[in-house]
Amino acid sequence: METRIFENAEEIAVAAAELYKELINSKPDAVLGLATGATPVPTYQNLIKMYENGEISFKDITTFNLDEYCDLDKNDKNSYYTFMHENLFSKVDIDESKVNFLDGNAPDCDAESKRYAEAIKAAGGIDLQLLGIGTNGHIAFNEPADEFTDEAFKVTLTQSTIDSNQKYFGDVPMPRYAMTMGIGSIMRSKKILLIATGEAKADAVKALHSGEVTPRIPCSILNQHDDVIIMLDKAAAKLL
Ligand code: F6R
Repeated sequence: METRIFENAEEIAVAAAELYKELINSKPDAVLGLATGATPVPTYQNLIKMYENGEISFKDITTFNLDEYCDLDKNDKNSYYTFMHENLFSKVDIDESKVNFLDGNAPDCDAESKRYAEAIKAAGGIDLQLLGIGTNGHIAFNEPADEFTDEAFKVTLTQSTIDSNQKYFGDVPMPRYAMTMGIGSIMRSKKILLIATGEAKADAVKALHSGEVTPRIPCSILNQHDDVIIMLDKAAAKLL
């Protein structure tokens, strides 16, 4: 793991977008693993600027998102499908047929997991997987557990995740379940970029850097991947 500490979230967003620019310009049909949540938004804004300036194109890019809520229509304003379209896809020249999401309403979760794994394989694997981190150390929606997971599965969200994400849903109770890529799917990515900003992430970031690898701290598995970049702002890095 290579950890880089920046002054603030804006600096991270510039550096992260540069990493994407290098990849996309050297491999215009790259396969990107994408994340939702507040953390990647500034990076997506910089990617949109780069697209508008003619520095990058998404026309041959394939994407796979990490996760999607269950029991929510994909066009609901709070779905991750909507989030990605509002924050990136509708603003760049991406080919919608190359955009991939887990179906949170799939009637057969095992079949859905297999479908996603096969689609990732058929695309040639994920070149660069973007991750945020939960305050409890989750990556995608792999919550603290007794074992590391492998392929995508349906997860019961923990109270800590619900407490962190309920704010996006206002007065409407947020979903209790999600379909998420598993730890194995994430670890098979060729390169991983994890971004963490803000003091609320400091404990999880510290645990990630302790070197202990345990499914109780799902992000700790990243210690076993040989190409991981961690970008932190000073607040998230404050316990290092
Ligand atoms: C989102 C995801 C989650 C978030 C994490 C941090 O696709 O998989 O693991 O990355 O919950 O969320 P934010 O960035 O909102 O703090």
